[in-house]
Amino acid sequence: MALSTILTLCALLPAVFASKPRCFGFNHPIHVSLTVPTFNVPKFSNSYESTAFLTASVARNANISSLVTGETHIDRAFKIQFQYCEPQKCTPAPEVLQVLSHGLGFDHTYWNADGKQYNYVTSATTQGYATLSYDRLGVGLSEHADPYSEIQVLTQVHILAEISKLLQTGKLHKRISSPKKLVHVGHSFGSLVTNGLVAVYPSLSNGVVLTGFSHNTSWTPLLEVCLGFELARMNNPDRFYGYDSGYVTWGNEYDNQCAFYTYPFFDTNVLKQAERIKAPFAISELLSFASVPLAAPNFTAPVLMLSGQADLPFCGGDCTGVLEGPASLSPFVFPNAEPLASYIQPNTGHALNLHYNASAAYQVIHGFVKEHVR
Ligand SMILES: *[C@@H]1O[C@H](CO)[C@@H](O)[C@H](O)[C@H]1NC(C)=O
Ligand SMILES: *[C@@H]1O[C@H](CO)[C@@H](O)[C@H](O)[C@H]1NC(C)=O
Ligand SMILES: *[C@@H]1O[C@H](CO)[C@@H](O)[C@H](O)[C@H]1NC(C)=O
Ligand SMILES: *[C@@H]1O[C@H](CO)[C@@H](O)[C@H](O)[C@H]1NC(C)=O
Repeated sequence: MALSTILTLCALLPAVFASKPRCFGFNHPIHVSLTVPTFNVPKFSNSYESTAFLTASVARNANISSLVTGETHIDRAFKIQFQYCEPQKCTPAPEVLQVLSHGLGFDHTYWNADGKQYNYVTSATTQGYATLSYDRLGVGLSEHADPYSEIQVLTQVHILAEISKLLQTGKLHKRISSPKKLVHVGHSFGSLVTNGLVAVYPSLSNGVVLTGFSHNTSWTPLLEVCLGFELARMNNPDRFYGYDSGYVTWGNEYDNQCAFYTYPFFDTNVLKQAERIKAPFAISELLSFASVPLAAPNFTAPVLMLSGQADLPFCGGDCTGVLEGPASLSPFVFPNAEPLASYIQPNTGHALNLHYNASAAYQVIHGFVKEHVR
């Protein structure tokens, strides 16, 4: 068939059909080899013990570093679950692949939530990008590794690095050809992992977008207190039966709201759905929060920091003067990013993708990537 015929056929397709991405899921073992700190945490046998641990870790005289008793070497493959999406055939092949890392409490579906106004993946493929989202280690269909030792920020950084190398060489999946450019987009904990990636391996990314994040960690205890640490398997035995006791979660949808949403700028049905599909997180993931290097002097590609105005965990409820301005630490973390930009999304809390105006924030991201990643 001649090219002109294909183009003509494509022009006849209804626009709505053309905007629906083509997606497939798969899993792939990701091998990592690294050394992580060992935390001396007695295994929880009930939610009283995990709650007591939370109270102790946010106390005014808490000292997380005193829990570190040595090092653990990890050298093995973990099963990771992926979802790849690209625009319909009729558009030019995507040159930029966006790798999407979700935060605590979510799985990869954070990026393609129900409803067009929340769906990041569809908004990206409509703009001509391919996307790869995945369940982080310990989440969803990815391997539920040891939550007291193996699931740490640094492990997640090394997994993201290995994924990026496999993508760069076209070896992750036979239907994913190696893209011209890789852009990494994170949310919250996924932004921490993404920042760690370009601090350790600056050559693996052509641009990063960190959402629901900042470099001021003064308010993480607020997040933890909102959440609470209930043993996942006791909080929701139907869904989390069989999870190790090192997997914890918050109590109910109001705890979820406290940490992630700002009222009334979200649909309560969206919150209810997020609560129905929430993912537990691993205790060592939280303990290792500060053990990953973030300073990325050798990263010279574009960086966009974008957070909801009322973000509680990373801005203490008001991002003005935290995400940007003279008190922001980000210019020290990314001294050579070209450019380093920040954007405060109005009327939005921490779970940026699940507030009413999410799609407008996506346009800010796509505009930035279009202008700066070439
Ligand atoms: C925290 O614990 C570490 C390791 O035990 C120790 O070196 C450090 O001085 C402690 N910090 C405070 C503020 O007590
Ligand atoms: C975090 O932001 C607050 C308020 O702007 C400021 O007082 C504090 O010094 C900042 N902390 C760091 C580590 O930047
Ligand atoms: C940056 O690159 C230089 C030269 O390759 C290297 O010596 C240095 O350790 C790197 N810095 C960081 C923080 O990775
Ligand atoms: C929605 O987001 C866009 C992009 O940030 C912003 O310009 C607009 O003011 C927002 N609208 C509301 C009602 O918050």
